[in-house]
Amino acid sequence: KKTLRIAVIPGDGIGKEVTPVAQAALDKATEGMVDLDYESFDLGAERYLRDGQILPDEDLERIKGKDAILLGAVGDPRIKAGILERGLLLKLRFALDQYVNLRPSKLYRGVTSPLSDPGDVDFVVVREGTEGLYCGAGGAIRRDTPAEVATEVSINTAYGVERVVRYAFQLAMRRRRHVTLVHKKNVLVNAGDMWQRIVDRVAKEFPEVDHDYLHIDAATIFLVSQPSRFDVILTDNLFGDILTDEAGAVVGGVGYSASGCINATNDYPSMFEPIHGSAPDIAGRGLANPTAAVLSAAMLLRHLGFDGPADAIDGAVEADIEESGSTSRSTDQVAADILARI
Ligand code: NAD
Ligand code: IPM
Ligand code: MN
Repeated sequence: KKTLRIAVIPGDGIGKEVTPVAQAALDKATEGMVDLDYESFDLGAERYLRDGQILPDEDLERIKGKDAILLGAVGDPRIKAGILERGLLLKLRFALDQYVNLRPSKLYRGVTSPLSDPGDVDFVVVREGTEGLYCGAGGAIRRDTPAEVATEVSINTAYGVERVVRYAFQLAMRRRRHVTLVHKKNVLVNAGDMWQRIVDRVAKEFPEVDHDYLHIDAATIFLVSQPSRFDVILTDNLFGDILTDEAGAVVGGVGYSASGCINATNDYPSMFEPIHGSAPDIAGRGLANPTAAVLSAAMLLRHLGFDGPADAIDGAVEADIEESGSTSRSTDQVAADILARI
């Protein structure tokens, strides 16, 4: 029997409420087949408020030795925005070189979409995960003076873009063979032009895959007016962040949206997390939808090659939503309903 070593970082707010549900789903789906060796890491707001630590080197080193990471959410209104997000979540994505941020959106039967006629929605956003405006390049000078200057520089490397572009085309080969590059090349002419040229060059290696291009502003329109046109959406770090929250809303809410922060070369563990945050507005009340966390657990299993148990979780979620997706349920109730089906 194989043992999987999994780092668990519940984090903050509803992250603490949905992560145990994802773990329970992992346990049930792999029962008798895999030994799950969890190590929970006390990282996030409570830890920071207690001892000032965000992600100590020794924790990062231990995490590097795991097969995968299950993360809930990070961020707390008591702590200045950015400290935990950059110091914990982005630090993990960068240190573990998780260059593919994979974010599927599927409209399940039984979910009420805010769109009256959404059609068949089933696309994946391949969001670059380690570059762009997220790098932290830039700075502030003359703070709190009228002459204050603040800059954020978008870093795009040919190496970083090419590897995620290639991943998107490979993924498209296993899907409906269509890639849409989303950028803003009419304004961001340096990075946009480089992304487009790399896409055109890599596309030659995949003659069966069609590709087209949309500016980000237009993409936000088509995502609500014609979401069924998309198969693989390929985009940079910030555009991908924004587009995937919109995509979540289109398929019934971010409570259904899972993600994988993938190191596709397997040099480091990949990390699986709902795309939503710590939701301070509903935290502590047992209202969070744990489905996104459960679907993230399925992505974790699939990434490690356990397609059977991953299918079992996906199937249970699909059946649960079809049966009860339109009813309002507590976290515990959704958890019980899904677990009963695995
Ligand atoms: P959010 O995703 O936490 O919440 C946005 C809205 O969606 C809220 O109304 C919330 O109640 C609702 N929502 C989110 N997840 C839900 C779920 N599972 N079930 C039901 N409703 C849900 O985004 P925000 O409010 O912009 O951010 C809150 C904090 O989370 C911030 O500190 C932010 O930086 C952080 N954040 C972290 C992550 C992450 O850890 N991956 C992602 C996004 C935001
Ligand atoms: C997400 C979040 C993060 C991001 C933040 C919290 C750093 O919004 O995972 O979508 O922007 O990537
Ligand atoms: Mn986001």
